[in-house]
Amino acid sequence: MVHAPAPFPAARLRRLRRTAALRDLVRETGLSHEDLIWPLFVTDVPGADVPVPSMPGVSRLTPDGAVRAAEEAARLGIPAVCLFPYTDPALRTADCAEAWNPDNLSNRVTRAIKAAVPGIAVMTDVALDPYNSLGHDGLVRDGVVLNDETVEALVRMGLAQAAAGADILGPSDMMDGRIGALRRALEAAGHAEVVILSYAAKYASAFYGPFRDAVGASGALRGDKKTYQMDPANRDEALRLVARDLDEGADMVMVKPGMAYLDICAAVKAAFGVPTLAYQVSGEYAMIAGAVANGWLGEAVILESLLAFRRAGCDAILTYFAPQAARLLRG
Ligand code: PBG
Repeated sequence: MVHAPAPFPAARLRRLRRTAALRDLVRETGLSHEDLIWPLFVTDVPGADVPVPSMPGVSRLTPDGAVRAAEEAARLGIPAVCLFPYTDPALRTADCAEAWNPDNLSNRVTRAIKAAVPGIAVMTDVALDPYNSLGHDGLVRDGVVLNDETVEALVRMGLAQAAAGADILGPSDMMDGRIGALRRALEAAGHAEVVILSYAAKYASAFYGPFRDAVGASGALRGDKKTYQMDPANRDEALRLVARDLDEGADMVMVKPGMAYLDICAAVKAAFGVPTLAYQVSGEYAMIAGAVANGWLGEAVILESLLAFRRAGCDAILTYFAPQAARLLRG
């Protein structure tokens, strides 16, 4: 409980704000390079390793470029990177089979990073959209995004990622039952140590637009993702989803997007006390990076925006600002 201050002048709350030393002493939350996960877009399509126009400062990387980024993350003390493949359009099909190819781009890059920088945790995305000619996170039949068939595909995909050496699997698809199915399959296949970070409270958000450009899914997608991602109006449902995914074997949970959903972050942390992460998504990055690039806002808004996640109770944040923020934090 917050103590009610004594009447003025016994309490002058500015006393503790007078000098930097005093402010340092009573700061309630902190932000460190250790709290960041750096999402990387990778491609092996010749000529596709270019800047993403809607994300100033972010480029798709070649596999070698992704290894160099992981080395940079290690130098900056960032504990984890998260891989998002831009798949060759010729490999995108309705059955999404490239998703569980042991030698697909994401799995090759995972192996390359784990070989070059073993201390960095590699997180991978478990969702079909980068492999789906129809742009959805699930298999589609007659215009319907199928649940149970998609979960089977996600299990194959997750097992291939674990075999490639992924430390953290991030199911970002919002199908029902995928956490339990993945956890059972990982245990049975000898991957008991692999962490599942469930995108438990993922909203059907317009803030994902630049990401879909980056992975090349914007053009294919017809309609929206509202039959599987959450309604932005809902809060109780987020808590039910987190409870369900924890029961099924998730080690950590994610709220996504971040800044417009800080109330959800705070509610999840308060209700469950489990490792709670937030994703400062591509659209949030675009807003801030665009304003900073134009000189409309100062660079300080980057750390202020990330600190807000810590204040809301998040343990860590996925952010495209990770290297820039780590540099700012390390002075
Ligand atoms: C899809 C996926 C999305 C993001 C991460 N995984 C987009 C979507 O759900 O359409 C968005 C991340 C971002 O916007 O930065 N599996």
